[in-house]
Amino acid sequence: MKASAQHGLFPDTHRIDWETPQHVFDELDAEFGPFELDVCATPDNAKCADYFIEEQNGLAQTWAPRRCWMNPPYGREIGAWVRKAALEADRGATIVALLPARTDTAWWHDYCIDREVRFIRGRLRFGRQQRNPAPFPSAIVVFANPSSRLEGVESD
Ligand SMILES: C[S@@+](CC[C@H](N)C(=O)[O-])C[C@H]1O[C@@H](n2cnc3c(N)ncnc32)[C@H](O)[C@@H]1O
Repeated sequence: MKASAQHGLFPDTHRIDWETPQHVFDELDAEFGPFELDVCATPDNAKCADYFIEEQNGLAQTWAPRRCWMNPPYGREIGAWVRKAALEADRGATIVALLPARTDTAWWHDYCIDREVRFIRGRLRFGRQQRNPAPFPSAIVVFANPSSRLEGVESD
């Protein structure tokens, strides 16, 4: 028998739509949310009532000033999503992103390295079945407007 991802024996490394495990979203929603906008989703996997689908192209929309959830497609276009998150944070949005921890990439160095990053211990089990651990490590990156980081900090 030929073992393949289709048979469910090995995780499919070519997949780009890794649906956020609900418990990961819930914990971050409690800490940084409530999230108001899922910037890339389908009606089936959206994590917020308000969301953009591929046909609307979330990359071409305005996200600020909302609190956003972002778990982007993990293909070549991921750099554009991370860049957009940085841009929208500058415009006043807060974006909490679940990303593959590809710390050697240009997009990581250009847009993630100086932000609040939480490396996830172990491997996430994506999707509703939560069967196989992902073949890559994950991290949470928080894109926030620098001035909003000072909220609640009292000045002298
Ligand atoms: C990794 S999945 C995340 C799904 C869900 N938001 C979550 O957190 O589980 C990425 C989603 O982005 C959607 N997508 C792809 N290109 C998009 C685009 N240009 N604009 C909006 N959504 C897009 C895909 O259909 C897919 O559902």
